[in-house]
Amino acid sequence: MRIVLVGPPGAGKGTQAVRLAKELNIPHISTGDLFRANISQQTELGKLAKSYMDAGNLVPDEVTIAMAKDRMEQPDAHPGFLLDGFPRNVSQAEALDELLKNEGIKLDAVLDLEVSEDEVVKRIAGRRICRNDSSHVFHVTYTPPKVEGVCDVCGGELYQRDDDSEDTVRTRLEVYHTQTEPIIDYYKAQGLVRTISSLGPVDEVTTRALHALKRDEDDEKK
Ligand code: AP5
Ligand code: MG
Repeated sequence: MRIVLVGPPGAGKGTQAVRLAKELNIPHISTGDLFRANISQQTELGKLAKSYMDAGNLVPDEVTIAMAKDRMEQPDAHPGFLLDGFPRNVSQAEALDELLKNEGIKLDAVLDLEVSEDEVVKRIAGRRICRNDSSHVFHVTYTPPKVEGVCDVCGGELYQRDDDSEDTVRTRLEVYHTQTEPIIDYYKAQGLVRTISSLGPVDEVTTRALHALKRDEDDEKK
C-alpha cells in the first residue's frame, strides 16, 4: 500500500506511522525524521533545514522533494510506503503525483488524523524524543518511557524537540492551516481521503486507522 498521513503537528502521525508501518509491512518515511537525522549528522542539508524548522516554517520544496524522492526510490519502498509529513503543500502533492505517474503507480489512501488544538498543545508540551532516532516518541504522562529520560527502544537519551517551544508551535499550526490543509481538498478530489479521530488511547487510534485503510481494500475488491 502507498499511504500519506496528514494532520496537524502533534496529531500523532509519527506515533501511528510506526505502528501502521509494522502492521502493513511497509517503510515509514518521515521527512521530519530525515531532516532531524541530517541535523544530527551536521550535513549541509541539515544546516539548511534547521533554520526553517526552528522557526516553524517549511523547508523549501526543492530540497524537500529531492530528499523524499531519494528515500522513496530505495528498494525497501518499492512494494509500498507510509509517508508522514510529506507532502505538506499543494506543490509537493503535485510533485508526488508526477513522481508516481512516472513510475506507473498510485496512492491508495490519505489518512487524515483529526485532533483539537487544545489536545495538540498538551501532546506537544509533554513530547520527548530519542537522540538516536527521532521516530522513537514518548509523552511524559500519556505514553511515558519505563525509565524517565531513557528510550524504551534503544536506551538513548530522551529530549524535547527544539521546535516544540510555545511560539514555534503557534507558527507550525498556522503553517499547517494555510499550507498543508489545502492538500486534503486536493486529495478529496481524487477520492483518497479517510478522516479519523486521533483522540483516545494510542491502540484505539491504530485500530481505527487500520479499519479506515481496510475499507479502501474492501472497496477495491467490490
Ligand atoms: P515534523 O517532524 O513532520 O513535525 P509535525 O508535522 O509538526 O508533526 P509532529 O512530529 O510535531 O507531530 P506528530 O503528528 O508526528 O505527533 P507525534 O506522534 O509525535 O516536521 C518538523 C519540521 O520539519 C516542519 O515544521 C518543517 O520545518 C520540516 N518539514 C518536515 N516535512 C516537511 C515537508 N514535507 N516540507 C517542508 N518542510 C518539512 O505525537 C505527539 C505527542 O503526542 C507525542 O508525545 C506522543 O507520545 C503523544 N501521542 C500520540 N498519540 C497520542 C494519543 N492517542 N494519546 C495521547 N498522546 C498521544
Ligand atoms: Mg512527527
